[in-house]
Amino acid sequence: MPASDSTTHAGSDEPLLPLHRLHFDEPGAPRTITLSDGSPAWLVSRYTDVRHVLGDSGFGRAELYAPDGPALADGPGLVNSPDLMFNQDGPEHLRLRRTLRRAFTPRAVARWRPWIASIVDQLLDELEGGQPPVDIVAEFTLPLPVAVISRLMGLDDSVRSRLRHWSEHAFTDGSHSGAEVDTALAEFAAFGAELLAERRHRPGDDLVSSVVVAAAEEGGIPESQLVSLVCGLVVGGHDSTMTMLGNSLLYLLGERPESWPSLGADEETAGAAADRLLHLIPLGDDRGSVRRASVAVDVGGVTIPAGAVVVADCGMANRDPEVFRRRPDDDLFAPLEAPSLSFGAGPHYCLGAWLARLELQLALHRLAARFPRLRPAEPVADVSWRLGTTSRSPLRLPVTW
Ligand code: HEM
Repeated sequence: MPASDSTTHAGSDEPLLPLHRLHFDEPGAPRTITLSDGSPAWLVSRYTDVRHVLGDSGFGRAELYAPDGPALADGPGLVNSPDLMFNQDGPEHLRLRRTLRRAFTPRAVARWRPWIASIVDQLLDELEGGQPPVDIVAEFTLPLPVAVISRLMGLDDSVRSRLRHWSEHAFTDGSHSGAEVDTALAEFAAFGAELLAERRHRPGDDLVSSVVVAAAEEGGIPESQLVSLVCGLVVGGHDSTMTMLGNSLLYLLGERPESWPSLGADEETAGAAADRLLHLIPLGDDRGSVRRASVAVDVGGVTIPAGAVVVADCGMANRDPEVFRRRPDDDLFAPLEAPSLSFGAGPHYCLGAWLARLELQLALHRLAARFPRLRPAEPVADVSWRLGTTSRSPLRLPVTW
């Protein structure tokens, strides 16, 4: 069951725009704004300022969960668990991050290329055997990242539908009651705890086993944090990639049909396009990386006071004309002028960035090579959306070839 299905903004008849069409204001100096819960915050939007906020130890995540933190941190779901690595700062954060760092280096991820390619090919064989029109979300963009993360974590096929159930509650769009989210997350945590116990007992060649070994070397990591780490990886490791792949196909097939066959030419071309798509298309409507200042910090000539909540808008910063002279959707294959902020920056820089990029590159390349005449089977303007806490992607995307 999808988390939610919608074509319009909640409480309005205005249709939801595809994410590649969202409007971004020009970035400017840090300024105060009001969050959706009515509390005050600072908006930081220039490229250098966003990098500064995300990299400066004066801004962190843990303080968001202090008793006087903003109400937005009270929402249900895994994203707001103070045990999550993403919600730790300083030495606690580093200790958790070290248990995973080695597994996610570019070189380590490059070794996964052959088996990721074989999962892609297997799904494409099944797609080819089907009778068009076929829903590319159900048959490709959803099962691919689920299969990849399951294989990495050493999970068997039988847990896949439960993984989606847990993910949809972990990243709820608000359509589940607090009790439903709590029940699903308790089940998910029990699953994570069992998985850790099993791999301690019988280690294998998988990510959970390497976390167990690294955590024992580190020592002193609370079990609840390890459980959140494993659960966070399972959901974070596929939901965002599925979202990006679905939105990329919506854009490519709907608006760049002339470029589609070029993606099948070679992997490098598809890799360049993957970088541009990651830069252009946000994961959802919720744009900011949120932090809280523990001390007063000068950002771009403005003093942000201690205790302030700060929204670092990576989408606006990715369009900062001081840094990116081309329009983001200009040339799909042109290299970016500067590193994109789509995976964040600083100590919380996305750990799965290399994996996500590789999945997108292989998926787009092999799909375009196999189906150079792939096209939407229904008007893309009628798309309905799968909504999550921070993400949005097509619920279904029927295609033909
Ligand atoms: C298209 C796909 C993806 C995008 C756009 C994305 C984006 C991001 C961003 C922006 C952040 C930092 C947020 C912030 O600082 O406020 C982040 C953090 C993170 N991502 Fe990703 N991500 C993707 C895929 C993945 C995958 C595949 C994995 C794991 C297998 C992953 C694991 C993580 C983890 C563990 C963190 C937290 C790191 C920390 O707190 O130190 N992500 N991601």
